[in-house]
Amino acid sequence: MCGIVGYIGPQQAAPICLSGLKRMEYRGYDSAGLCILQDGTLHIGKKAGKVAEMEREVDVAAMTGTIGIGHTRWATHGVPNDVNAHPHSDASGAIALVHNGIIENYLTIKKKLLHAGYAFVSDTDSEVLAVFIGMLYDQLHDFELAVRTALSEVEGTFGVVVMSAHDPDMLIAARRGSPLLLGVGQNEYVIASDASAVISHTRQVVYLHENEMAIVTRHDGFHTKTIHNEETHSVVEQIEFELDAIEKSGFDHFMLKEIYEQPNTFHDGFRGRLLVDEGNVRLGGLQAVADKLKHARRIIITACGTSWHAGLAGEYIIEQLAKIPVEVEYASEFRYRDPIIYSDDIVIAISQSGETADTLAAIREAKRKGATVIGFVNVVGSTIARETDAGVYLHAGPEIGVASTKAFTSQLCVLTQFALYMGRMRDLDARTGKEIAAGLAALPSLIHRCLEQGPAVQAIALAYAKATNFLYLGRGVNFPAALEGALKLKEISYIHAEGYPAAEMKHGPIALIDENMPVVFIAPKDEIYDKVISNIQEVRARNGTVIAIASEDDTSIDAVADHVIRIPETLPILTPVLASIPLQLLAYYIAVERGCNVDMPRNLAKSVTVE
Ligand code: M6R
Repeated sequence: MCGIVGYIGPQQAAPICLSGLKRMEYRGYDSAGLCILQDGTLHIGKKAGKVAEMEREVDVAAMTGTIGIGHTRWATHGVPNDVNAHPHSDASGAIALVHNGIIENYLTIKKKLLHAGYAFVSDTDSEVLAVFIGMLYDQLHDFELAVRTALSEVEGTFGVVVMSAHDPDMLIAARRGSPLLLGVGQNEYVIASDASAVISHTRQVVYLHENEMAIVTRHDGFHTKTIHNEETHSVVEQIEFELDAIEKSGFDHFMLKEIYEQPNTFHDGFRGRLLVDEGNVRLGGLQAVADKLKHARRIIITACGTSWHAGLAGEYIIEQLAKIPVEVEYASEFRYRDPIIYSDDIVIAISQSGETADTLAAIREAKRKGATVIGFVNVVGSTIARETDAGVYLHAGPEIGVASTKAFTSQLCVLTQFALYMGRMRDLDARTGKEIAAGLAALPSLIHRCLEQGPAVQAIALAYAKATNFLYLGRGVNFPAALEGALKLKEISYIHAEGYPAAEMKHGPIALIDENMPVVFIAPKDEIYDKVISNIQEVRARNGTVIAIASEDDTSIDAVADHVIRIPETLPILTPVLASIPLQLLAYYIAVERGCNVDMPRNLAKSVTVE
């Protein structure tokens, strides 16, 4: 949830940590802070609010030193104020750490420490860990051993970087449940929660594994071991994306940039996979489990948020093409309800970040119960990608905007290919396969045409930016797209919005409709078009305002809708991809008009690595 960074090398640590924090700010922006070792003493500067606020209040230029750590926070324990901001130090002020995760048994440890006479200044679980390490150091006089001992006693999750004035040439990083990687440069190292903070220094990275720690020294390089002191073998990997992928490149916001990237990201999702002439797909990442897939009797999709919406659309698509029953589960619920899982079940985890704690817990539960678990994940090398038996990367590139956009359409891209692959393994005929494959291949240029609607969508957004409620309605596979449209609006504009199956409206939500309620209908010309038009009439009869996402050649809808946003024609199962584009733009322009910070909406963070 938080972003953590550490630097050791010949350069000034503060600017490097600071730029790392700026790159990772999407992970959390409740407070920010730095700790630099200067003339043998740890100097901490921290402040509630965004990194820019910390930069304004703290004289970062005066923090000189070549070893340091930094943190940008999404608050869990303790309100977002200056005191609760990281880094936190031990009682002596000689040991400091930054932490991402939750120390679940912090109260038990805190009680012991209080009993032993230690005091605390913050409400955080992380300070407890810092004080605990400090106490152990006082007893053991060995920095690494103190960190290791503390970490083997804590319960919960951590990505942590610890530094000590006693060992001025050493950083210790460790992880359990929260991502952490070590960038290996020329005699310098950058530790960070994600690759965006490392890439401007080096492309060589070591992804830390569960319960693994890296002891990084100025003169003797680094080595890795488990927190139980067993040596581990680390593999240096290469960061694949380019620096401009994590920059705004002239767009006002990352979200807008990512919306406009979708013709390319969608294409990247099927490039080298789609076999249009054969009406099939080659998914190399699923080779290892091909036999399991062939004989599976059920698929369970588990995910959270936007990824769950993609999964729900996947249910419609997979059942239609592969004729295999699909269940879609909120990962946060799945894990705790002792789900019935058979050994011939396929569990699919969908995740942009690959680090969502609920999704991770769900796949661990599924694995424990013997299912084959596959991942449709965007971030290469992420925990979910590594813990699944097989998988397909989304190839959407880094997604920085907290509101997921391009990852959603890439998830639909991969899910459709998966459905096609499963279908062709079973009974789907080649002719239908070719039709689907050709439909997918045509989508990048159709997405491009949807994006050309930007100014028209913006005009509608300006007209409704002051609304307090919105309804989003769609039927069939467009119902998940309606849910996703509503989520986009509420998370970045703070307007209450609900998604519903259009026909369900009459069972309750219709009571909400009056002249102040804009209702967005996804109404392409498909086999249930007439039914959706009836639902539109029901809204009109109650003076609701209708914004229709309609097929390009549908002129009759103008008579019943107040506003029409056109999308090109495609196969019905592919419509959610195209319908999502104007819905993303609508949410974006409304949020901008309301003066909201679209890339960093309040209370949210990009990846939710706590349960
Ligand atoms: O990284 P994941 O796809 O696992 O994240 C799941 C959700 O937290 C995420 O989709 C969230 O709902 C986004 N803010 C939606 O825009």
